[in-house]
Amino acid sequence: MDFRILTTTTSSLSKVSADALLIVVAGDPKQQGLDDPLDRALADAIAAGDLAFKAGRTLYLHRPVGVKAARVVFAVAGDAGPKAFKAAVAAGLGLIKPLGVKHLAVAATGAIEATHAEAAAAAASDATYSYRHTKPSASPAPALQKITLLVDKAEAKAAQTGLSRGAAIAVGVALARECANRPGNHCTPSYLAAEARKLAKLPRIKVDVLDRKACEKLGMGSFLAVAQGSDEPPKFIVLRYDGAARSDAPVVLVGKGITFDTGGISIKPAAEMDEMKYDMGGAASVLGSFRALAELQPRVNVVGLIPSCENMPSGRAIKPGDVVTSMSGQTIEVLNTDAEGRLILCDALTYAERFKPAAVIDIATLTGACVIALGHHRSGLFSADDALADALLEAGSAGLDPAWRMPLDDEYEEALRSNFADMGNVGGRAGGAITAAMFLKKFTAKYRWAHLDIAGTAWKSGAAKGATGRPVPLLTHFVLSRAR
Ligand code: BES
Ligand code: MN
Ligand code: ZN
Repeated sequence: MDFRILTTTTSSLSKVSADALLIVVAGDPKQQGLDDPLDRALADAIAAGDLAFKAGRTLYLHRPVGVKAARVVFAVAGDAGPKAFKAAVAAGLGLIKPLGVKHLAVAATGAIEATHAEAAAAAASDATYSYRHTKPSASPAPALQKITLLVDKAEAKAAQTGLSRGAAIAVGVALARECANRPGNHCTPSYLAAEARKLAKLPRIKVDVLDRKACEKLGMGSFLAVAQGSDEPPKFIVLRYDGAARSDAPVVLVGKGITFDTGGISIKPAAEMDEMKYDMGGAASVLGSFRALAELQPRVNVVGLIPSCENMPSGRAIKPGDVVTSMSGQTIEVLNTDAEGRLILCDALTYAERFKPAAVIDIATLTGACVIALGHHRSGLFSADDALADALLEAGSAGLDPAWRMPLDDEYEEALRSNFADMGNVGGRAGGAITAAMFLKKFTAKYRWAHLDIAGTAWKSGAAKGATGRPVPLLTHFVLSRAR
């Protein structure tokens, strides 16, 4: 998608040439400040009861008299903020998408700041993505190719910044969605490694892939214990984005890369097990964030770590009660083979120490308990570091990809006690997302750390079933906030 900025005024929108004009309206319906043909059309529609001034409502006009654009869509936003703006643009795009519109101009009767421009790019690419890899017959890609955001002269510079950022994040989100949507027999650990290697063709990105043997040498006994039940070779992917001086401590992003989670010997029920192909959503968000960084080229160092394997039952699979030795030297009693995410992440968290990181963020579809706690709108954020937690919450709000902070009190750790190892890998049903985070915390003593549980936010069930690409916007904003 091609995103542009054009300076105009709200009072000359009827002269804009484009295949369609989408006007986001908010606030007082009587004071929208549009030029006459549009102002009258809006007032008439409201008076006739054709457009209720309620968030998400839209109205389509074909060839309205006195307006240059052949199609006009009004979309009502709940307020003047970027979140409401994004929802209104998405609603308008829902009307426009099936039409033959190639060039869409988007305007708002309220102010357009950088965050609005970013939101417009996000809404546009969300609306135009469609999964086709294993379904080429899926609805053909919409005709829409170009979006011009119409802004006042004074708004142009900020809008351009926001639009570029939004376009870069959108490319990253699309990559993350595509990876997580691909089924487990296509998206294997080797596939993720190949996607990472593709990223290494972009400026400032390097990739290294460690195979089983290299992981054995490093002592990644916990990661390899999960991998041993599968015939798919495990991969430990190391990405680097070198945007600043070598002496600059990097941010390390660790993504859970379980390309399919059957549960292992503690096998999952059949219903909805297909969705466990997205158990590499954390890994996908790391790849997507690197894709966005390649576009934006910020002055910051970032390392990406992706432990990737399948969690399968087999004659070689780990069994409940098995004790494994992690790279940290701590032993773990595997009480439930379905709590495999923490088993692969702990070794990646130990591996992260070698980068002397400024901060380590792990991202994982870690627990069903997090979905119960927070639902599908906010990712669970866990950190003992207030400043880091605040920065991540802020990045989430800025990227319209919100998180919610969860507790990490020492008392939760008691549930992980084991008579046969330094810890068990599960702590019972109560507070399951928190005990999972407490497990990870035991491997993070050497640096500032935060954990994002994205089990509820990386995927949508139901009719619109599929990957969301979250939390690429949050992660990209966080990394940008640390650039010089
Ligand atoms: N990948 C799952 C968590 C998950 C569940 C993600 C639902 C997305 C949707 C994880 O590996 C898992 O199975 N967790 C168990 C942990 C339990 C055994 C302590 C869970 O949540 O049931
Ligand atoms: Mn599992
Ligand atoms: Zn899992």
